[in-house]
Amino acid sequence: MTAPDFTTLIADDWRDYALIDSGAGRKLERFGPYTLVRPEPLALWAPRLDEAEWARADAVFSAHSEDDESGRWRMARPLPESWAMQWDGLSFRARTTPFRHLAVFPEHSVHWRFALARARGDGETLNLFGYTGLASLACARAGGRVTHVDASKRAIAFARENQEAAGLREAPIRWIVDDAHAFVKREIRRGRRYQGIILDPPKYGRGPKGETWRIEEKLSELLCDCGALLDHDGRDRFLILTVYAVRLTPLALAQAAREALTLPGDWTFGEMALPHARDERLLPTAIFARWRSP
Ligand SMILES: C[S@@+](CC[C@H](N)C(=O)[O-])C[C@H]1O[C@@H](n2cnc3c(N)ncnc32)[C@H](O)[C@@H]1O
Repeated sequence: MTAPDFTTLIADDWRDYALIDSGAGRKLERFGPYTLVRPEPLALWAPRLDEAEWARADAVFSAHSEDDESGRWRMARPLPESWAMQWDGLSFRARTTPFRHLAVFPEHSVHWRFALARARGDGETLNLFGYTGLASLACARAGGRVTHVDASKRAIAFARENQEAAGLREAPIRWIVDDAHAFVKREIRRGRRYQGIILDPPKYGRGPKGETWRIEEKLSELLCDCGALLDHDGRDRFLILTVYAVRLTPLALAQAAREALTLPGDWTFGEMALPHARDERLLPTAIFARWRSP
């Protein structure tokens, strides 16, 4: 197999979000009107701004332990439970969560733009592990039909709040609480086909009936099954896979994806990154594999 050319996709299309600085294992960001500090193990370099600027943040997250996503926020001033943000005219709600994130992953805008450009026709997009629903809403706003699957009722409730915020109450979105892989298998048995599939699986997760998801064990089989669910000959078909699990590399993902999905088409592999607002640095965030029909 020849080594793929890896691409860095840069989410540089935000007004309501900015990566202000990073370094020494932390990042300073703006989400709407609020600035926040979070741990960032990939920020191996030195911060560029003075400590005084970091100290002005509205909230700081401390993890319970180094490998733990969960932790607590220390607020310098009271923050609302959620607040309005926009991406490219799509309105949604951001909020602090006990799992260090803000219920929006800004680096994903590179995939929303790719998906919405294809999801306009009569086809349907399947968003697996869909959480905040922003990918689903971007596709629906472009005029596409969407099936959104997440194991967590609470996550679906957040996504539906975003649907309200976006003014897309009437949009053709099916919100489904289910285990992603069990749902995919059921859709194959029903003979359903999707124009596009978006997957952002966590490293480890549980379905609503306790089904266990472990990325290293299950990703390859899930991708094969996604291949069976993709329309075999429609226009503008696509698959977008994002992985944050630290032990995987772009090359490992590229090889697994190429082996699992053998439909003719073009693959792009690489990393997603956030640009710093005040200097030329890029912060890597996740790795991805993206397929589109010829
Ligand atoms: C990394 S988040 C996805 C974030 C999403 N890309 C976004 O922009 O909002 C992972 C999501 O997977 C869900 N999840 C975990 N295990 C699952 C499973 N077995 N089946 C379906 N969803 C699952 C979690 O509830 C969580 O919402």
